[in-house]
Amino acid sequence: MNMKIAFVGKGGSGKTTLSSLFIRHLAARGLPLIAVDADINQHLGVALGLDEDEAAALPAMGARLPLIKDYLRGSNPRITSADTMIKTTPPGEGSRLLRIAEDNPVYEACARTVALEGGTARLLATGPFTDSDLGVACYHSKTGAVELCLNHLVDGRDEFVVVDMTAGSDSFASGMFTRFDMTFLVAEPTRKGVSVYRQYKEYARDFGVPLRVVGNKVQSEDDLDFLRQEAGDDLLVTVGHSDWVRAMEKGRARPFAELEQHNVLALDTLYDAAVGAYGQRDWERYTRQMVHFHLRNAESWGNERTGADLAAQVDPSFVLHEDLTPQPA
Ligand SMILES: Nc1ncnc2c1ncn2[C@@H]1O[C@H](COP(=O)(O)OP(=O)(O)OP(=O)(O)O)[C@@H](O)[C@H]1O
Ligand SMILES: [Mg+2]
Repeated sequence: MNMKIAFVGKGGSGKTTLSSLFIRHLAARGLPLIAVDADINQHLGVALGLDEDEAAALPAMGARLPLIKDYLRGSNPRITSADTMIKTTPPGEGSRLLRIAEDNPVYEACARTVALEGGTARLLATGPFTDSDLGVACYHSKTGAVELCLNHLVDGRDEFVVVDMTAGSDSFASGMFTRFDMTFLVAEPTRKGVSVYRQYKEYARDFGVPLRVVGNKVQSEDDLDFLRQEAGDDLLVTVGHSDWVRAMEKGRARPFAELEQHNVLALDTLYDAAVGAYGQRDWERYTRQMVHFHLRNAESWGNERTGADLAAQVDPSFVLHEDLTPQPA
């Protein structure tokens, strides 16, 4: 099963914590794995055990966009320069595609390999967000590099991509939220927590985006009731306060094998839900959606910004899928 999974939710809900636990869970199974920190607060590296200096030294994908664009466009005749490539520019004949377990210049420039629970994960990070990233500055979007990579990624069997991500307007405008086989919306049992869920669901519905709610910091029957009432069947599982997580926050990390049993079961539930969603993957729809969002972005700002007709970048006969022949690096 190959899977692209996003953890989204309100600030402070536990996106980074739950993504990092899930990533450890996958690494412990020895699965090929890419972890992406695309959250406003870049904390995934530390949550995966890097010290502050190591985390701060992670290369910022946002600062390496020219390299990423140049590599991905390859010899695609429809994309004449990296300058005209925007975050939604779709791959076509001649584009270079990314594979999870290969070595390529993008990983070399942007990824660090982290040893984790007997396995490894490749860790990528957007880099710190600035005020201008939080508005509608489409051109400079930090997550643009991640979106480009996801749109050029053909993930093979038993491979995982886990993205720790903000549920912001950026991901809705660009189409980033449609790039995942499964989206876990992390919600605390509060009105604010579930309002992010409602907004996300609204967008997700029109695009067939598989979305499940993961309750976090659930302390009582009343908390559970609240989430059941608000999320109904979308509520997949809940996680309570974890002493294991708290110990790590204190700098007293314990072995992963000591994670509370009920939280291990919750991670199993996430794994099963992710794997279960795989059957719904549809490469044609996936490609159609990236074209849809590209045309929308081209019209609303991209054409003006680049001075080119970006609709011409679309290769009408191209469908992204697993058996495409790799282009020479
Ligand atoms: N189940 C849990 N048990 C104990 N502590 C938790 C749990 N979930 C989250 N926390 C703590 O809550 C805080 C916020 O969690 P986290 O950083 O994962 O949230 P986030 O959604 O990624 O936040 P941000 O929006 O700031 O990136 C952290 O200090 C984390 O350790
Ligand atoms: Mg976070």
